[in-house]
Amino acid sequence: MTLPPDRPLAVVTGAAGGIGFASAKRLAEDSFRVLMLDRAGDRLAAAAAALAARGLGVDSETLDLTDAAAARALIAALPRLAVLVNNAGVFDVSDFDALAEDDLRRMVEVNTIPVFTLSQAAARRMPPDGRIINIASRSWLGARQIAHYAASKAAVVGLTRAMALDLAPKRILVNAIAPGVIETAILDAWGTDARAALAARQPIGRLGRPADIAAAVGFLADPRTGFITGQTIIVDGGASVGTLGGA
Ligand SMILES: NC(=O)c1ccc[n+]([C@@H]2O[C@H](COP(=O)([O-])OP(=O)(O)OC[C@H]3O[C@@H](n4cnc5c(N)ncnc54)[C@H](O)[C@@H]3O)[C@@H](O)[C@H]2O)c1
Repeated sequence: MTLPPDRPLAVVTGAAGGIGFASAKRLAEDSFRVLMLDRAGDRLAAAAAALAARGLGVDSETLDLTDAAAARALIAALPRLAVLVNNAGVFDVSDFDALAEDDLRRMVEVNTIPVFTLSQAAARRMPPDGRIINIASRSWLGARQIAHYAASKAAVVGLTRAMALDLAPKRILVNAIAPGVIETAILDAWGTDARAALAARQPIGRLGRPADIAAAVGFLADPRTGFITGQTIIVDGGASVGTLGGA
């Protein structure tokens, strides 16, 4: 790694994508040195180069998080780690009747199991006041046509709450962010018409932006927010509040 050693280290997974990239940028702007991880090597290199060109302290490594041994080895080789953002994820849409067990397995394999693997490995290297931030999804509350995805993200919320208790004696804080509908490539699964309909249904009147989620990541990584753990912050423009009498 070529990152300067004088600043606390943050690792962001899925950092070639919309929310991961915005989170890496935000943490680098907040004076963390950031290691960006993703399985998409070319996109990752371009993303890291774009941030480095702005003078931000980032580095990148290509990693498929479903390779648990490689993920553990990478984390174990790092210097002490201040912040881990478990952001990488996959998504697709299906009628419930068309789902198969393998669809659920595929979601859990990427969206859930690496959260456990990386968090456990990272917690062994974190000093007191370390932060683990898991990107869940508002769909954990329930959503149509994504039962497999929603289940994998509900498990992330459960892991977050349980890890918060297990890691509290080490003073490691574990929280989740549950984004609503955020404009990233992952939404391509919905198609253009469905996206427009989704935007029209949001109480705030727009879809979320990756920077909206990165702002919550920055908040939870901030040394001043050291008394928040086990929480899931919903960042969805009010969509989960309910719209009785509204759209
Ligand atoms: N965009 C939304 O509306 C939304 C809503 C709720 C939750 N989320 C969650 O936010 C996170 C980021 O998603 P995004 O919207 O930025 O999508 P995205 O597709 O732009 O980014 C996801 C990134 O994860 C990477 N990735 C996927 N599988 C991987 C693996 N096995 N190993 C390493 N990297 C892998 C992808 O290459 C991609 O760069 C995901 O966990 C997603 O479920 C997104």
